[in-house]
Amino acid sequence: MAHQWRGIIAEYADRLPAHVQERIVTLGEGGTPLVEAPALSARTGAQVFLKVEGMNPTASFKDRGMTAAISSAAGRGAKAVVCASTGNTSASAAAYATKAGMVCAVLVPDGKIAMGKLSQAIAHGAKLLQVDGNFDDCLVAARKLAEAYPVELVNSVNPDRIEGQKTGAFEIVDALGDAPDIHALPVGNAGNITAYWKGFREYAGLGDPDAPGAHLPAVSTRTPIMWGFQAAGAAPIVAGHPITHPETIATAIRIGNPASWAQAEAARDESGGVIEAVTDEQILAAHRILSAEAGVFVEPGSAAGVAGILSRAERGLVPAGARIVVTVTGHGLKDPQWALKTLDGADVTPIRVSADVVSIADALQLG
Ligand code: F0G
Repeated sequence: MAHQWRGIIAEYADRLPAHVQERIVTLGEGGTPLVEAPALSARTGAQVFLKVEGMNPTASFKDRGMTAAISSAAGRGAKAVVCASTGNTSASAAAYATKAGMVCAVLVPDGKIAMGKLSQAIAHGAKLLQVDGNFDDCLVAARKLAEAYPVELVNSVNPDRIEGQKTGAFEIVDALGDAPDIHALPVGNAGNITAYWKGFREYAGLGDPDAPGAHLPAVSTRTPIMWGFQAAGAAPIVAGHPITHPETIATAIRIGNPASWAQAEAARDESGGVIEAVTDEQILAAHRILSAEAGVFVEPGSAAGVAGILSRAERGLVPAGARIVVTVTGHGLKDPQWALKTLDGADVTPIRVSADVVSIADALQLG
């Protein structure tokens, strides 16, 4: 295994806490591609790259945080973990807990998680409960459960999750040679924007002096401006108050009261950035552009960052030539139904042909 990527804990050992390294539980997460997207550069006048987090073992960025959270729990001898989830956290927790030999309980909002994610959690043997409530209700219940019973919480309020997820920022800087001008991403429970900002700051030598690796030389000369995007029907940070009944087709980010709200605002304000809302229509249009023009298939929630930079470009708010990295957070196969609909909601049905070359050539208009 001399030439294989070893997962984020081994690769970034000197910048992660010692307690996650006692018993490392990894599925080889991280090391995801940074892909240049000329189609998006042309549309925005910037130089756009995509950090393709759907290439992680369970097909979302959650694996970076989960390897750290489950390793830490394993090091303490934990037997069971719990999380609330819009789907991806549950898929990731289930896989890593299984690898660690732990029981995994997940609380998901009834009927509001994508089929791919539900199948992953079930396949990996999680005890999955569909809760009569939304994500925010599930998180309140999961926190109370972890306080009162012998089960550890692995949501992003667990600091180990943030430690793991900050490595996404490290990889971007390692790939580009310095921080980008702007980093854009979707915002749901706001753990990821918190983690990226922490990572970018630490790599620029601006982190907490007690952070692991604080004694190491800075890797980047600066930090990026942080742009976060929420779905319009679930945009509490933009509205300035919790949303009791969040609604969006982007179920991954259907969250009305983010746990890391204050940290997201700090990332925005300290970096001179913004947190804005994008409509479901803008999300689906960006989803379409990503798959049909950039060759990158993501789930709708993951397209919110791209929807955001396109919306800002339309308003003349993207600096010409800026180097922008958009983190696209989860794979399109998680929630594939959206690829089979046109933008106005009609079903896309493949053309049927008989198995002879002439009718196939006709259908392909090759004649
Ligand atoms: N993109 C995807 C694909 C997600 O699954 C999530 C969050 C986000 C973006 C937002 O990240 O919460 O750190 O701001 N999914 C969580 C879950 C809530 O349960 O899977 P965030």
